[in-house]
Amino acid sequence: MKVTKAVIPAAGLGTRMLPATKTVPKEMLPMVDKPAIQYIVEEAVAAGIEDILIVTNRAKSAMDDYFDYYPELEDRLNASQKDRELAEVRRAADLANIFYVRQKETKGLGHAIWRAKRFVGDEPFAVLLGDDIMRAKTPVIGQLIQASEKYRCAAVGVQQVSTDAISKYSSLKVEPLEGNVFTVSDLVEKPRREEIFSNYAVLGRYVLTPAIFDILENLSPGVGGEIQLTDGLRQLCRQDRMVAVDFEGRRYDTGNVRGFLEATIDFALDHPLTEKWLKAYIKEKAKEF
Ligand code: UTP
Repeated sequence: MKVTKAVIPAAGLGTRMLPATKTVPKEMLPMVDKPAIQYIVEEAVAAGIEDILIVTNRAKSAMDDYFDYYPELEDRLNASQKDRELAEVRRAADLANIFYVRQKETKGLGHAIWRAKRFVGDEPFAVLLGDDIMRAKTPVIGQLIQASEKYRCAAVGVQQVSTDAISKYSSLKVEPLEGNVFTVSDLVEKPRREEIFSNYAVLGRYVLTPAIFDILENLSPGVGGEIQLTDGLRQLCRQDRMVAVDFEGRRYDTGNVRGFLEATIDFALDHPLTEKWLKAYIKEKAKEF
């Protein structure tokens, strides 16, 4: 079945980016000239997604406003012939059909995704984490959708990380299937060294089947007292087929300062408005090191 719906969980507290994220959602922090969340919405749209549900909370209404029209601003830009700015402001509001639901309590990623049950209905759907930004030739979620459609099952986006780093992610037990696609038979969240299945970690992109909702509804809190998506995926891969796609592209965790800065620099080096001067600035700066 064609995947046309996506869910973006963005209701986390953003404690790794404080104090900035005390009042500004981390998804709204600008990377060059767009907020981080727009890169994610654009990735979904480029992969053929039409309807997007953003899971928010009471501190994140700036996101709803961002994807809305702003007539007073647009009239002003029009009157002063700021055509580029006007087009960009309008484009953001017209990117996709965007819906919102609140996660009323911060009970974990699994709980946030469960809030999408009514939106999703009875079809497979994409999940893009609100603070994982990708740079890739083919949209990463599109690579997963392709695999999910081919093998008619859930798909998770993975890459290998170092043994030291895997304890921050979920580690997967995998068997090669075809090319960069693997069959998943188990997962563990934030493994201790003796629990590591492999260095393949899930990195912020998923295509899930609606079977996940019944699983999440009945899950007990896991690591950190939260309803963990990984625990849900573990059950899902035991009852149905699940594949892992070792995707092409670079993933940035923009929920921490380092990932945020690396992404900002890389996107700025690609951007026509900033590319030239930033390269010159970096070269100049490098002389000081
Ligand atoms: P993270 O743990 O990376 O984000 O959650 P966080 O909780 O916002 O950040 P820190 O760790 O306090 O800095 C992964 C994704 O799951 C979402 C987050 O918004 C992020 O996109 N999430 C997490 C929810 O939507 N709800 C939750 O209860 C927890």
